[in-house]
Amino acid sequence: MDGTAPETAQKDVLGEIGQRLAASSGARSDGRLGAAFLAIIARVHQLVDELQPSAAEFQAVVDFLTEIGHASDARRQEWVLLADVIGVSTRVEELNTPCPEGATPITLPGPFWRDDVPELPPGADLSRDGVGEAMAVSLHVTDLAGAPIAGALVDVWQANAHGLYENQDPDLQPEFNLRGRMRADADGRLQFRTVKPRGYFLPEDGPVGRLLNALGLRLERPAHVHFKVTAPGFRTLVTHVFDRDDPAIGRDALFGVRPELLAQFRALPPGSAAKHALDLTLVLVRDGHAGGATPETLS
Ligand SMILES: [Fe+2]
Repeated sequence: MDGTAPETAQKDVLGEIGQRLAASSGARSDGRLGAAFLAIIARVHQLVDELQPSAAEFQAVVDFLTEIGHASDARRQEWVLLADVIGVSTRVEELNTPCPEGATPITLPGPFWRDDVPELPPGADLSRDGVGEAMAVSLHVTDLAGAPIAGALVDVWQANAHGLYENQDPDLQPEFNLRGRMRADADGRLQFRTVKPRGYFLPEDGPVGRLLNALGLRLERPAHVHFKVTAPGFRTLVTHVFDRDDPAIGRDALFGVRPELLAQFRALPPGSAAKHALDLTLVLVRDGHAGGATPETLS
């Protein structure tokens, strides 16, 4: 003994867990679940070795994760928000739905989509309160070769001119305001009217928002319009199209912005039927197009 505390030999936890799994009779111990369990533990150990947290810092992490659980319920999913703001949701989407060149990229649907929206006739005005600057949208739905997809079903949803979706703002916006489900015609074309959306901030009053705010970051999203397009024989396209002139275009908190999804929400001359216009082509991929394999489920 030289007076200094002897260093405790590092326990080979990973090796022991691997051995226990190998000896386990658990039904899934040697499958993808077992491999994921080991891989995740290995990465966490690497992190701990790299960051060397104090006991107080480790407790702060435990408290943060506990708070995320408490902040999540049927109406709010703080875990999903955490995955979104660290870019993991987008990465999982990229891995599972690779986008062939020329196809419109698939992005996250976000938390505001509704499945119960009534179908509207082509040409409908999605603004049920008339608030905001009118925007005429002209959509063309095609396959990768540019051939029209007749009768494609197009769901649209967006925030209003104040950056709020109707289901966030039920006291001030009518039910289904700025939402619609419409069919493209035989040439894959669809026109409708709406209002120019404004960008918004996701709720920042939960643990994820507070963490980002402590880092000087915001949960900001540039202005966009969401689309979900379905057609028999094609992979469902869920995407959103961004206003390329929005000042926040380079700092989307959810990493949804891609060059192919930038659009001109262009101003129309005075006297036009609408104040803005948006012309878009959405390109779908046929079912069975070479893509990523569906991984074995972990649950
Ligand atoms: Fe959105």
